[in-house]
Amino acid sequence: MSTKKIALINGPNLHLLGKREPHIYGATTLQDIEVHLSNLASQAGIELICFQSNHEGAIVDFVSDIGLLSDTPVDGVIINPAAFTHTSVAIRDALSALNKPFIEVHLSNVHAREPFRTHSYFSDKAVGVICGLGDMGYEMALGWFVKYFSTHE
Ligand code: DQA
Repeated sequence: MSTKKIALINGPNLHLLGKREPHIYGATTLQDIEVHLSNLASQAGIELICFQSNHEGAIVDFVSDIGLLSDTPVDGVIINPAAFTHTSVAIRDALSALNKPFIEVHLSNVHAREPFRTHSYFSDKAVGVICGLGDMGYEMALGWFVKYFSTHE
């Protein structure tokens, strides 16, 4: 079996994790999350490619670069689209074009917050949605891929 590749994509303002409303998003920085997840992935023989941007078009470009425009496309995506969750048809379309399983992660429980956060442009396309479990949500998403790859070539 060839090495599997997963992209970890984080959207706007998530570069501020640790400093940004820690009572909602926790004290862990994005760098901590990326390092920890990369270690877990490599222990499972998976390559993790981490990307964060505050710009919708940059995320669209990244998804095409690691997908249809790549000779070695990723096998899956873990994405926290952040505020773009509730607004971005463009990133939704980019993930549909990629046509690989993706998991939508939110640190906070979006259903226990403002009503506009309950709508996602991603959830109906995602294999699963994890929210409200803080940074552990990313680990759980990776765990799903480890199991998935063990049973799918
Ligand atoms: C978030 C929830 C979104 O509603 C919000 O815009 C974010 C972060 C989360 O991880 O809980 O920026 O995706």
